[in-house]
Amino acid sequence: MPPSSTPAPPPPGRPALAGRVVLVTGAGSGLGAAQARLAAAEGATVLGLDVLEEPREPLPGVEYRRLDVTDEEAWSRTAADVARRFGRVDALAGNAGVTWRARLGDVSPADLLRVHEVNVVGTLLGVQAVTPFMAARSSIVVVGSVAALTGHVPLAYTTSKWALRGLAKAACLELGPRGIRVNTVHPGFIETPMTASAAPGFRAANVAETPLGRTGTADEVAAVVVFLLGPAASFVSGAEVTVDGGLTAHGGVKSIADAMAGA
Ligand code: NAI
Repeated sequence: MPPSSTPAPPPPGRPALAGRVVLVTGAGSGLGAAQARLAAAEGATVLGLDVLEEPREPLPGVEYRRLDVTDEEAWSRTAADVARRFGRVDALAGNAGVTWRARLGDVSPADLLRVHEVNVVGTLLGVQAVTPFMAARSSIVVVGSVAALTGHVPLAYTTSKWALRGLAKAACLELGPRGIRVNTVHPGFIETPMTASAAPGFRAANVAETPLGRTGTADEVAAVVVFLLGPAASFVSGAEVTVDGGLTAHGGVKSIADAMAGA
């Protein structure tokens, strides 16, 4: 028999996030927007947060609010307001992020700090703001990147995403005794405004290295994030889940396999 503190699995057919209060950063666009929509469709009360005045995409069922994740005061106000209205925060999905495509020889310390301020400090501030209002069985998902698993040329972005892995692991350790789970999702090339602005050739090169032979969609990432946010993932913490079509699985072997295919 499992110990009595073992959470019961969600009943079949119940929406994955029924009754949950979920905060999603970066909700104005791309991955965050898809997660906010799906969380709302799965029964959650969703607050979508983004530095944009207005979201770039429709967010049915989502309450949208402007928030700069680097603004500690704004985080305090927002978390306290959510707790006052709904009694608690059950989940946080941290997507807010920026890239900066300067390579090793060109990147400046100022670039590095600016990217880290949003991607790393912004995520830390969010975790610090919401966890006082989280009870046992709450969940945090940090959105990393395949750039957190391998070397990538945009240096500031890559170092910021590697730092997020450490943040998530430390948070998993620290918050576990309170029953709060922390996991990281690493998307590969996903079609969003961020990747639409990448250099020509970047998309094709990614597809060539991806065993599934295509790019991903924001909805495919959202499905994994919503699973991790919800009670079905009740014993998953400290995990790093790639949603990359196999990109990081082969360690460079795909081009060798492709070259051998016709040999
Ligand atoms: P996106 O550019 O469409 O969305 C990012 C959102 O973050 C934007 O709405 C932006 O306004 C918001 N944001 C930026 N700075 C902010 C701040 N200071 N405060 C609050 N919001 C802020 O990009 P996308 O693709 O949706 O990216 C979301 C996350 O997923 C990012 O962390 C990105 O690094 C990550 N990711 C994306 C991949 C992709 O292929 N699209 C691959 C791997 C990771």
